[in-house]
Amino acid sequence: MKILGIETSCDETAAAVVVDGARILSNQIASQVEIHARYGGVVPEVASRQHILAIIPILKQAMAEAKASWSDLDGIAVTMGPGLAGSLLIGVNVAKTIALAHGLPITGVNHLEGHIYANWLSNDNPDSAPRFPLVCLIVSGGHSDLVLMRGHGDYLLLGRTRDDAAGEAFDKAARILGLGYPGGPAIERAARSGIAPTQLPRAWLKGTNDFSFSGVKTALLRLVEEGRVSTVADAALGFQEAVVDVLVSKTLAVAKELRVKQILLAGGVASNRLLRERLVDNSPITVLVPEPILCTDNAAMVAACGYFRLKAGKVDSLNLDVVPSLKLA
Ligand code: KG4
Ligand code: ZN
Repeated sequence: MKILGIETSCDETAAAVVVDGARILSNQIASQVEIHARYGGVVPEVASRQHILAIIPILKQAMAEAKASWSDLDGIAVTMGPGLAGSLLIGVNVAKTIALAHGLPITGVNHLEGHIYANWLSNDNPDSAPRFPLVCLIVSGGHSDLVLMRGHGDYLLLGRTRDDAAGEAFDKAARILGLGYPGGPAIERAARSGIAPTQLPRAWLKGTNDFSFSGVKTALLRLVEEGRVSTVADAALGFQEAVVDVLVSKTLAVAKELRVKQILLAGGVASNRLLRERLVDNSPITVLVPEPILCTDNAAMVAACGYFRLKAGKVDSLNLDVVPSLKLA
């Protein structure tokens, strides 16, 4: 089954063609990062307008790269939420138009579910596909969720952030350190030349699987304001250590408690090398992590998720609408 995936939930306009939820034929991404960077974050109105400009060229490129014509497709998958309403609308309306014009089934995908399904991509060998039950840590700009997955489309929310998402914390810390936007890659880059990591507190929230990252950010702000940070690199290193420490410890603990078969990592923050290495090195069970380009927003993950949804008969009508605050579970 050849599925066209479309993603416009935030500041990336993306389209991709994926076979059987695993083999990527094309994966086109138009990033708006440079446009939003001057404002220090995503400006929703600007994002919607950029999606309108980029969506048709990106679709054409994705179809051309895949050497696919409309009649080769078996279905359309589009992100319907969570995300920015105006941005989501562009993708959903384009997807519905294609579905109507070419008589294709359409399925609305939860963006977070899409991030999880990035772990099914590039897996031509069915033996290397994720195995249930598993625990997935989804860490993005808007979410930090620990989820138990017992089968396709079966989610139980184990824990979440009580304040800032991990990616949001990276973005805010980068702003505090004058490292620019987006903060995650900037912190990671700066941390490489760090020597003595700045000591920062960790919120363990014992007895729960929840996270909290606003305290570590405030602690960093206070140290910077008081001039008690040795170098920006040391502060970036210390901040990265603190966030990764909590994410890895809590994920390993809940995976052990629930005796799952595997751990999956997903979302933009999953492209962080320290997080990937720490989790893999310290886990007694298999940890799957998508390659970095599939961790940040893309449409291949949406197509992969859409394949499993369509296979399970989850076809939406052309009344499909955006749900900006859509929940996973
Ligand atoms: O999943 P994503 O691309 O978009 C959302 O769905 O939010 O995640 C974006 C977030 C941003 O907060 C960005 O700073 C963070 O992921 N991020 C990183 C890295 N690359 C992106 N955080 C830490 N280290 C990275 N290398
Ligand atoms: Zn995302």
